[in-house]
Amino acid sequence: MWNAMRTTFQSIKWRNVAPRIVADFAVIHCAMLVAFGISMAYQTRADDLSSVSNLANTFRHYYLSQFLFLSLLFPAAFFANGLYTHVRYYPTKAKLERFTLVVFLSLTVFLTANYLVIQYRNPIGRSVSLTFGVVALLGLVGTRVGKEWFIGGERIERRKSSRAPKDGLVLVIGGAGYIGCCLVRRLLEQGKRVRVLDTAVYGLEPIQDLLNHPNLDYVYGDCRNIQDVVKAIRHVSRIVHLAAIVGDPACELDQKTAIEINYAATRMLIEVAKGCGVERLLFASSCSVYGATDEFMDEHSKVQPVSLYGETKVSSEQVLLESASSGFHPVIMRFATVFGLSNRPRFDLVVNLLSAKAMQDGRITIYNGQQWRPFIHVRDLAEAILLLLNAPLSAVDREIFNVGDNHLNHTLAEVAEVIQRVFPGACVEHRENADRRNYRVDFTKIEKRIGFHCKYGLEDGVREVKAAIDSNEIEDYRNIRFSNIGFLREIGTPENKSEFDAAVMAALGTEQSRAGTAGKMSQQYFQVKTTPALPS
Ligand SMILES: NC(=O)c1ccc[n+]([C@@H]2O[C@H](COP(=O)([O-])OP(=O)(O)OC[C@H]3O[C@@H](n4cnc5c(N)ncnc54)[C@H](O)[C@@H]3O)[C@@H](O)[C@H]2O)c1
Repeated sequence: MWNAMRTTFQSIKWRNVAPRIVADFAVIHCAMLVAFGISMAYQTRADDLSSVSNLANTFRHYYLSQFLFLSLLFPAAFFANGLYTHVRYYPTKAKLERFTLVVFLSLTVFLTANYLVIQYRNPIGRSVSLTFGVVALLGLVGTRVGKEWFIGGERIERRKSSRAPKDGLVLVIGGAGYIGCCLVRRLLEQGKRVRVLDTAVYGLEPIQDLLNHPNLDYVYGDCRNIQDVVKAIRHVSRIVHLAAIVGDPACELDQKTAIEINYAATRMLIEVAKGCGVERLLFASSCSVYGATDEFMDEHSKVQPVSLYGETKVSSEQVLLESASSGFHPVIMRFATVFGLSNRPRFDLVVNLLSAKAMQDGRITIYNGQQWRPFIHVRDLAEAILLLLNAPLSAVDREIFNVGDNHLNHTLAEVAEVIQRVFPGACVEHRENADRRNYRVDFTKIEKRIGFHCKYGLEDGVREVKAAIDSNEIEDYRNIRFSNIGFLREIGTPENKSEFDAAVMAALGTEQSRAGTAGKMSQQYFQVKTTPALPS
């Protein structure tokens, strides 16, 4: 036994242990001084000045002649119970439980010794002893909890930094899409190193001219495939997640695929990103989560999506925010409806579509003209994402941002007026249909927090479309390449690479109803039969 003790003693790193012993010793003495202080304050209030001075003398005598000696019991007990040696390697919870128990037992021994052996010679009173016990327990356990919290976070940061070199590599998932190709260009212009993960559902042309760029790394892959995701995330510190089946009709076309890509893949991405030490994940959500409402909706407003598309966004937002930690910082971006041209033009978006129709067909139909929509030009949106990507963490961590500009909330009738200004000969027909979406959105937060506001108005976008058609850059806006729903209806929705991926997505997708954000509708949607069969 002596040999074992000698070996333990020899193996102790005193440089680490000594400060902890001194700190514990200091807490014990502070606790006794606090207990004395409280007792003195109580006597002073009782106006018994003679007893106050007697008490002070008694305390001084007790402290110097007895407590100094007795207090050595604590470090001795902590030492004997391994608090300075092996317990520090315990998992945090077990460590704190063990520490609390040891402190409690040490205090019991101390108070018993104090009472039985010393008190008959030098009474300090039970109230002082008990106050000391409570303060010492809180102080000792409190400093341990604080240290675990502080150092624990630091340790995660350190471990993370060893896995994810901070070379600013940004991963854009869905970087070949309408918004993605615009963002990737701006990132490269800023000198950033960029990786794109995209299955190129609508082709690679939007980023074809960038594929040889020295700072661009393109990974052909599916965000539902874990190997592709792990490969793409290597050495990445920030992610912008744009990949999705976009829009209400496209999601309704194949609900299972929409759930997989828009929700289940987000859940998988979170785990891989956290494991690989990614610091910041910007998620593309949509203002359509606000559904149908006459109120002015800000980030605190109730979400009430009216479609599967909106539901998948709300549910992804929720799992992302729940997954935040000291090392992983999700940021939710609720985009306004986008307009304007990028290298992947979309003519299934209201402003672009109506502009092209007004020009090529000479007439447009406006459904539910009094309904409000917020709009944003695709280049402004790319700038907003850049700002959110580069903003100080304290300004954006775990935050939801409506991304747009208060000046760009318009009714659909106002959109028609702008289009008529650019195409004065176009005829406008007003009709009603079952589309209930109606939302006017407050963008004050993004303006105040990171100074974002839009440069482009609706008319800029309409004129862009006119110029592109005039110059034959766009030959026929009806080409299915320019419409997500048209393309997916004709070509089909992107299939999983393997049965294994399908099984993983089925497992992650059916958790939707547990997330429970969107009530009955999500349950109805998420009970859509996925592919539960595991590959043999
Ligand atoms: N365009 C808008 O008006 C608008 C409005 C609000 C929110 N958003 C959101 O912004 C994001 C981007 O929208 P967009 O307009 O650029 O759409 P988009 O359809 O042009 O781009 C989506 C990109 O994701 C890729 N993708 C799809 N499934 C994938 C998968 N399984 N793995 C990897 N890549 C995949 C596609 O190939 C495409 O390049 C989406 O999340 C969308 O919900 C868009």
